[in-house]
Amino acid sequence: MEIKNICCIGAGYVGGPTMAVIALKCPHINVYVVDANPEKIKAWNGPLEKLPVFEPGLAEVVGEVRGRNLFFSNDIAGNIEKAEMIFMAVNTPTKTKGEGAGMAADLSFIEACAKDIAKYSKDDKIVIEKSTLPVRTAEKIKEILEENNSNIHFEILSNPEFLAEGTAIQDLFKSDRVLIGGDETESGQNAVQALVDIYANWIPKEKILTTNVWSSELAKLASNAMLAQRISSINSLSALCEKTGANIDELSKAIGMDHRIGSHFLKASVGFGGSCFQKDILNLVYLCKYYGLEEVAEYWHQVVKINDYQKDRFAQKIIDHFGGDLSGKTIGILGWAFKANTNDSRESPAIKVCELLVSYGASLSIYDPMVQNQTIIKDIECFWNIEQSISNNKIDILDNFKDHNNYDAIVILTEWEEFKFIDFNESKIIFDGRNINQNNSTISIGK
Ligand code: NAD
Ligand code: UGA
Repeated sequence: MEIKNICCIGAGYVGGPTMAVIALKCPHINVYVVDANPEKIKAWNGPLEKLPVFEPGLAEVVGEVRGRNLFFSNDIAGNIEKAEMIFMAVNTPTKTKGEGAGMAADLSFIEACAKDIAKYSKDDKIVIEKSTLPVRTAEKIKEILEENNSNIHFEILSNPEFLAEGTAIQDLFKSDRVLIGGDETESGQNAVQALVDIYANWIPKEKILTTNVWSSELAKLASNAMLAQRISSINSLSALCEKTGANIDELSKAIGMDHRIGSHFLKASVGFGGSCFQKDILNLVYLCKYYGLEEVAEYWHQVVKINDYQKDRFAQKIIDHFGGDLSGKTIGILGWAFKANTNDSRESPAIKVCELLVSYGASLSIYDPMVQNQTIIKDIECFWNIEQSISNNKIDILDNFKDHNNYDAIVILTEWEEFKFIDFNESKIIFDGRNINQNNSTISIGK
């Protein structure tokens, strides 16, 4: 099948950057990105310096292709109808109610997409799971599509996304692998080939891996679980380093030099954040339990438990330093994003650590170079269990971080490059959750 028009449903951190890169690398294809949120579409069509997603290099790519063969639109129906290939890149958060609440993935957004695709399609479509989904979701999607439109043929592929925020554009340009899962039928394999042909415009063929649908769906959850497991492993050892005088950075280096282990994802930290690691592992735990694999479920659950422990442990270090009471103390918080080079604060360790500090009486002055003030306020309102009236008077959000001598302590929670160069007064107490500050008086993880 010749692909001339692609529609992507979901203009978020995945839909926006992935479609911008497909449009850049495939000038012969028109790419239409739609979203249920008109404000987001407006922002994607607005000034390049205010796109809804901040990613190094993204504004340049969007600037080149927007209006050429990349279009952000509110017309979900019209763009589904005209596309031969439709990507579903909507959010799949952890369920908050119903069966599996707190563990399973909430598939309501993906189901709504499938219903729209069935409703507005008038000819055969290739439907692609770009969102991260539990293994065997394609079965459910097929059911919805066929139930709501039995006149045409839908071929479902799994094509999970492996980009990391902060390096999304580079990751998309030079993917370690592109994974495409499809049915082993003739039409399934034709659909796989159509998608292979798109990626082959810039990804070397040997890096495009084709599998069956279930392997592809599960490989995404498993990849995130393995990455997060390394962080929890090193973070668990950071606690032992602090008791024994071993140094976690030296330990990471020594372990990572074994080529069988490798050096990536061994940096001890205040814990991993981001919208995906925790939700994907919990989803994996839920799946294991569903299939009766209690021991396997418990093994992976421990990765999330250690992550919670690490965030609590780091906050407790600060609280203990001040004798268990932070009343009257003002603490400068450097970083709210879950990692550097993104404006995303979903599941950021900063949210939990700061909540604990305030619950022990601290006042906070928070600075992040990219996360908007209203996002920080929303995070506090949504995720803190402290009474609003208490937290309101205790939080100041800063537009820059200049007067660092005004604070009783400074806490670094995101590894932004600019924090490495702040010239802290030697006598200032710095708690470094990211091990980036070299100041002698710094209190770091695992040292
Ligand atoms: P996001 O919240 O940034 O974006 C999702 C978008 O989908 C939102 O703008 C929302 O308005 C829109 N949407 C939801 N339901 C819709 C519907 N029925 N019709 C139209 N639009 C709808 O989410 P994200 O971070 O881009 O993640 C999307 C998926 O990709 C998730 O499954 C996630 O696990 C996966 N993923 C994310 C990343 C990442 O770095 N963020 C990386 C790899 C995979
Ligand atoms: C992660 C994966 O790396 C991507 O491959 C995947 O596509 C994505 O999740 C997803 O499915 O959403 P992301 O969460 O954007 O990407 O960023 P990472 O670089 O993986 O960092 C996640 C968290 O782990 C951050 O809080 C980071 O600071 C922390 N981290 C990372 C550490 O604490 N130590 C490390 O060594 C590496």
